[in-house]
Amino acid sequence: MQADYRKRVFANSKIGCDQSGAEVESKRKVGVFMMGYFSEEASVEVVNSRMGSEIDARLRSVMTSLVSHLHAFAKDVELTQAEWEMAINFLTKSGQICSEERQEFILLSDVFGLSMLVDSMNNRREAGATENTVRGPFYVKNAPLRKMGDNISLDGKGESCLFEGAVIDINGKGIKGATIDVWSDNADGFYDVQQPDTQPKWNNRGRFVTDEGGHYAFLGIKPVSYPIPDDGPVGKLLAALDRHPYRPAHMHFLVSAPGYEEIVTHTFVGDDPYISSDAVFGVKNTLVAPFDRVNGDTEWRSHFDFVMVKP
Ligand code: BEZ
Ligand code: FE
Repeated sequence: MQADYRKRVFANSKIGCDQSGAEVESKRKVGVFMMGYFSEEASVEVVNSRMGSEIDARLRSVMTSLVSHLHAFAKDVELTQAEWEMAINFLTKSGQICSEERQEFILLSDVFGLSMLVDSMNNRREAGATENTVRGPFYVKNAPLRKMGDNISLDGKGESCLFEGAVIDINGKGIKGATIDVWSDNADGFYDVQQPDTQPKWNNRGRFVTDEGGHYAFLGIKPVSYPIPDDGPVGKLLAALDRHPYRPAHMHFLVSAPGYEEIVTHTFVGDDPYISSDAVFGVKNTLVAPFDRVNGDTEWRSHFDFVMVKP
């Protein structure tokens, strides 16, 4: 490693000196690129040529592209020193606000649409299969296993809503024994983990297992829209961009069954005021679910079937 590094430094130090074709060729063979010193014009090539010859091929490809796009971006906007400092300061503050419970960098990726892009590219499914969307930061593993029809709303707030449907395969056949892991905010727009001192543990969360015909049913509340955590650098960025921090009302679902691709998704309330401007771009047409008034308008019902495919 050390020797390889010295070789490259040595090669760079000789730039501008006369070298025989054979010498240049032998250096190329050991991966020593004959690049000049840094310049604005050759910045990408100079930086990328520093990578060793033996590194992982995927790492080389990703980093080459990253450097190339980063430099192109800086050149495109003629990035000023003050702007660069502001960006460094933003990233520093984002790191400082991170904790076990708070991940500002994922939030940043979310509001850039990057989380949704990565999710979409990594979960391309055939037409008819249920689409994925972002998992979000509020998922908690091992929620209580509940019985068909149980109520997940433990704080007594909100408008009662029956969520029901089936987990089926692409041919419409019910999948027995599928697990549906669900979570949502409460009527005040907070997840239980955001208010551990005021909400009951596991409020608006639970796992359900489908019956013979693949059916599921549980009671919860009609979801309400809520802001993503906006008291940190990402919130300031949204405000500077004149963007609101709200997510349209949704219920989270993680559906799994042996032999099928896991689905991480939400169902959305279609008439939510933020349905077309989700702060994290999670809405997809196929995920907008019906929410109908039932029982003399005292309750809601939302029917949604999840279509699973094999990997
Ligand atoms: C959520 O839906 O829980 C969520 C997703 C992305 C960022 C913040 C919250
Ligand atoms: Fe959510």
